[in-house]
Amino acid sequence: MGKTGLQLSVLSYGSWVTFHKQVGDALADELMGIAYDNGVNFFDNAEVYARGESEKLMGRVLKAKSWDRTSYTVSSKVFFGWRGTDNKPNQTGLSRKHITEACHEALQRLQVDYLDLYFCHRPDKTVPIEEVVWTMNTLIQQGKILYWGTSEWSGVEIMEAHRVANEYRLIGPAMEQPQYNLLERYKVEVDYDLIYKTVGLGTTIWSPLAAGLLTGKYNNGIPEDSRFALEGFDWLKDRWVVDDKLAKVKELTAFAGELGVPVSTLSIAWCISNPNVTTAILGATKKEQLLENLKALDVLPKLTPEVLQRIEDIMQSKPARAEF
Ligand SMILES: NC(=O)c1ccc[n+]([C@@H]2O[C@H](COP(=O)([O-])OP(=O)(O)OC[C@H]3O[C@@H](n4cnc5c(N)ncnc54)[C@H](OP(=O)(O)O)[C@@H]3O)[C@@H](O)[C@H]2O)c1
Repeated sequence: MGKTGLQLSVLSYGSWVTFHKQVGDALADELMGIAYDNGVNFFDNAEVYARGESEKLMGRVLKAKSWDRTSYTVSSKVFFGWRGTDNKPNQTGLSRKHITEACHEALQRLQVDYLDLYFCHRPDKTVPIEEVVWTMNTLIQQGKILYWGTSEWSGVEIMEAHRVANEYRLIGPAMEQPQYNLLERYKVEVDYDLIYKTVGLGTTIWSPLAAGLLTGKYNNGIPEDSRFALEGFDWLKDRWVVDDKLAKVKELTAFAGELGVPVSTLSIAWCISNPNVTTAILGATKKEQLLENLKALDVLPKLTPEVLQRIEDIMQSKPARAEF
């Protein structure tokens, strides 16, 4: 992962939306088992997912599995709190108080002694960056977390954390968790470009399928048992199910057909073909989905320069770089 010594599987498994809401204990046990048996060694979580219930569920599965703790990594993220609209001051954000308390709560809910990765789920402009870096460094010294990172921070914010870490000889952020898929590319391809080369940055990218849009399942409407049909997720549907994006996905689906692969695996393979992507976090509510998505590794060799160019021509999503 980035310049660290940690090795993450190139495909990983996360629980946002799914755990507790769509996936109960038995299915989570089956899905995490399939992931692990196929080489996945990173499971992603956050305090805010299902208001803490997602971490509790993952914790129950991890406990029941009794996998060797050294054989997998597990994460949490701090920022949003887990009490929703009942969050009081100090129960969200990146203050020393909330980062520390959220870490302790995550350890309890996940039933683990330490988190391998701990993310600041968003930047917090109200807290001095020194406080964040010092707190994360302390948690590392205490053995409660092993690596800390950011999620959806700008390149400038990440570098400011490194400047402070350097100044005080502390450990800076090792990884970032940005959205990355064929329709959302700016941060990974432009904003962080220098950071991969300078301090070294690992990336654990999220929504490789644009929440399911890039599976083609929405090409002809919204299936009843899909994420965009869930109550309370209109904002996500409105973001993705728009004419120009659907038109591109339909064309990409046809091209995947020509290659003889599902558009979902083609889309995931495209993400991990970027050498700056450490791991793509998969989401899945069904065994068949996970088994299909794990095949992305087999599709990688099909991504020749010609195929990649065809994908660019269809998607027209390459982010522009500043020209001077
Ligand atoms: N740091 C952050 O801010 C942040 C934000 C979002 C996510 N994340 C992390 O990234 C992980 C992955 O994100 P994501 O769940 O949005 O990933 P995604 O791969 O873009 O979407 C996954 C969803 O698409 C559908 N799907 C997946 N494979 C499919 C297939 N082969 N055929 C048909 N439908 C399929 C399933 O939903 P349905 O079956 O319900 O349709 C599945 O839950 C999360 O679990 C979380 O750990 C982090």
